[in-house]
Amino acid sequence: MRSKIVAGNWKMNNNVAESKALAEGLVSELKGVSLENTRVIVSPTFVNLTTVLAATEGSAVEVAAQNMHQETNGAYTGEVSADMLTSTGIKTVILGHSERREYFGEDEALLAKKTDAALAKGLEVIYCFGEVKEEREANTQEEVVAKQISGALFHLDAAAWSNIVLAYEPVWAIGTGLTASADQAQEMHAFIRGFVADKYGAEVAENVSILYGGSCKPSNAVEIFSKPDVDGGLIGGASLVAADFAAVVKAI
Ligand code: G3H
Repeated sequence: MRSKIVAGNWKMNNNVAESKALAEGLVSELKGVSLENTRVIVSPTFVNLTTVLAATEGSAVEVAAQNMHQETNGAYTGEVSADMLTSTGIKTVILGHSERREYFGEDEALLAKKTDAALAKGLEVIYCFGEVKEEREANTQEEVVAKQISGALFHLDAAAWSNIVLAYEPVWAIGTGLTASADQAQEMHAFIRGFVADKYGAEVAENVSILYGGSCKPSNAVEIFSKPDVDGGLIGGASLVAADFAAVVKAI
């Protein structure tokens, strides 16, 4: 049975003290909350990973990195490898976020390499993808998403999919206040699950968690999460306030 997951992507926010306070606040908000079959993940910047790991130790809150480099080590100034992440205790990495694609030129060929490097080190990958506004307006969103998924992930064998989480994030809904309607999210998530099933079979498709991201917040999370193919969310803005993120977690 696939897990429900609510993951907070803190993006480039919070210094060390702020990260610690936010993590501690979240742990406190979630104290006593029943999280049966639901994983809660937060993703601070690289420099704050160990602080947040320490602040969440012994709680149900997991910690993920927001990115990593595809090479194992070497002359790649400013980069962080999978081995460096796992050596801190990190078990999950977000790859392919639309901001990485837009501002850092990441494409499926690169993301396939990053995915391979992550999986080789035993990291779980939360793989993000989603169409931009023009693609939605042209009704090409399914084609776009199919290419983003197949280009980075369809070289994997079926067993590798136990360490893959998919995150559908329509770019037009990220940080804009515009949210895909619950029906739009369900329609796309069902398409994605069918697309994975066509390639890998029903078992892999039924077991993969598919998260929705894009202006998801306490006021709309219940409706979005009520859809059968929406297994949780990847939350940006609303993950920066402990009470708001906890409310989204409780919506699942
Ligand atoms: O990774 C998270 C997404 O980019 C969603 O961000 O909730 O601020 O729209 P948002």
